[in-house]
Amino acid sequence: MDLETITTPALLLDVERLRRNAERIGNRVRDLGVRLRPHVKTHKSIEVARIQTEGHSGAITVSTLAEGSAFAAREFQDITYAVPIEPGKFPTALALAKSCQRLSLITDDPELPALLNEAARNQNVFVDLFLKIDCGYHRCGVEPDSKEAREIPERILDSSNLRFAGILTHAGHSYHCRSRHERLTVARRERDVMRQLAAELRDSGVDVPTVSIGSTPSITVVDHLDGIDEARPGNYIFFDAFQASIGSCTLDDCALTVLAAVIHRDLKRNKIIIDAGAIALSKDRGAIEFDPTSGYGRVLDLEGQDLGLSLASLSQEHGEVMAGTGDISRLKVGSRVRVLANHSCLSAAQHSHYNVLEGGRIVDRWEIHRGW
Ligand SMILES: Cc1ncc(COP(=O)(O)O)c(C=O)c1O
Repeated sequence: MDLETITTPALLLDVERLRRNAERIGNRVRDLGVRLRPHVKTHKSIEVARIQTEGHSGAITVSTLAEGSAFAAREFQDITYAVPIEPGKFPTALALAKSCQRLSLITDDPELPALLNEAARNQNVFVDLFLKIDCGYHRCGVEPDSKEAREIPERILDSSNLRFAGILTHAGHSYHCRSRHERLTVARRERDVMRQLAAELRDSGVDVPTVSIGSTPSITVVDHLDGIDEARPGNYIFFDAFQASIGSCTLDDCALTVLAAVIHRDLKRNKIIIDAGAIALSKDRGAIEFDPTSGYGRVLDLEGQDLGLSLASLSQEHGEVMAGTGDISRLKVGSRVRVLANHSCLSAAQHSHYNVLEGGRIVDRWEIHRGW
């Protein structure tokens, strides 16, 4: 199979770049003195997880329980489900806990430990539970200086079938940073908030087994991680147009593109339509906060060179590409391009599999384990 004949739209995964990203960030995390627990939500692929955990413990983070089950059914036995747990998911979560060596869940709710403990006791299962901390993102998590940050660990420790796993945070606000300096400030705060809280909890007699942080913009810039035990970056394995625009990586690091075909050409309006729309790419606006012209991704030729075109709008199965500073005259109906999407995690999650690209040829097919 090659790029001229495979059905479009199709995900292309450049395995050499993937290996390079896995090695570079894996080594960086090791050099920072912390354990790597990559977030596999970015790819949801067993083969990719094997590459990124090679030489590490094999611990992973998941974003859905379906992902957890798919990975537990392979060799992945130490799993953190890093979305707050709620009672409707107890049966699935407890079944997953039984099927792997260690399942860790997270909460920021004072009433949750008692409910989860009762369900776990009824099933005779033991579950690790992290306290989720808000280090400035304000999506989930308790404030580090709140009374809940002291109360919830005590409640977990008082529960017969729960173990206090430690404290966990995600600096998602690093995605709004405009400069390396801003990213470094957020990364330092993510680290410092957590090590200070861990120290306070330990001073009050609470054992904090693990202090867990992680996001790609922060791990790629942080100067040290003293006092932190593990990092959970995810996006770095593919990177994407957005990460390149905020400086977490270069465009040459980006491993994931969507192959698309030209389905319409309008020379009068100086535009083409490709068969990669919102379903194939996701509608992520990327670096729109900093660059209003960023569009829905970068249009590349089959060798990966930027064509200087603008992916201006998307509908379900159509992508509208305006000539911008580029030239569309050579792009006829049936011509193929590659789109470097703004957000690789969201694009990957739209597809059933990766077409693995090595030396310009498709050499394998790797499944994507979707669902909730
Ligand atoms: C809880 C949590 N941890 C870790 C990550 C990984 O972040 P990134 O993909 O920026 O590396 C995410 C991403 O959304 C997350 O929600």
